[in-house]
Amino acid sequence: MKNLFTIAQITDLHVGREIPFPSGKIALYDQLVKAVESVNNLDPLPDVLVVSGDLANHGNEKDYKRVHGLFSTLKMPYYIVVGNHDQRSSLRSIFSEHTYMNTGSEYIQYALDDYPVRIVVIDTLAVGSHRGLMDKERLDWLDMALAQEKEKPTIIFMHHPPFETGMPYPDSLGMDGKEELGAIIRKYNNVEAVASGHTHREAALRWNGTVAYTTPSASFSYKLEFHDVDDLDPLMEPPAYRVFRWDPEVGLVSHLCFSGTYEYGITEGVPVPPEN
Ligand SMILES: [Fe+2]
Ligand SMILES: [Fe+2]
Repeated sequence: MKNLFTIAQITDLHVGREIPFPSGKIALYDQLVKAVESVNNLDPLPDVLVVSGDLANHGNEKDYKRVHGLFSTLKMPYYIVVGNHDQRSSLRSIFSEHTYMNTGSEYIQYALDDYPVRIVVIDTLAVGSHRGLMDKERLDWLDMALAQEKEKPTIIFMHHPPFETGMPYPDSLGMDGKEELGAIIRKYNNVEAVASGHTHREAALRWNGTVAYTTPSASFSYKLEFHDVDDLDPLMEPPAYRVFRWDPEVGLVSHLCFSGTYEYGITEGVPVPPEN
């Protein structure tokens, strides 16, 4: 029996926000309902789910309680990453059974060692800013955590992407300490992926000996914008999430998935390949 392991990642829920679209107002809580349903319907179920930040738009307890209630219907354990819209003390208070968040430090950084893939979570929140930060204290912790296990395949989850996406507006809300972070990750060749969110768009990059991803929001997107703009309007592309599938004989395969329901066609048989 292969030691398969799957991790679902949902990100940027922003519960509490309602966005007016020409077709009507969308409450982002309703988007999360669809995402939870979609993840719960995967077969086989993911072994775990990681929520990579921006759980509630205003980081308040009322909205965290709604997320907490909905997440109680998840069919797999889940783990929380802090985003720039989040509030650490409120997260710790509402998700109080998530004792891994009580790290003995201000930051919510932890490693999960009991799974076939090691999950290391880092905290990029800089309070009062939408930009992220990896400062010396947090970097030192990561270096120490990675040094404890240099063999087992490892995924690092964080909210802010550790790379420039080429989109000036989201990049202006990027993170400080990227180079220092990259220098640490480069030392450990068992880091299979660095998975982030925050941009509300899909992106992937070969980065410091691993693959770095941003995963689209499970709630709403922003358009692909390579020009320098003052702001971005929300866009209603299909909300998405990611599934990482670890197969020891293959490696880590990333699958981008879309929540919501989509129509199936009817097969017309396998087409004959061209003979040229
Ligand atoms: Fe976000
Ligand atoms: Fe964010």
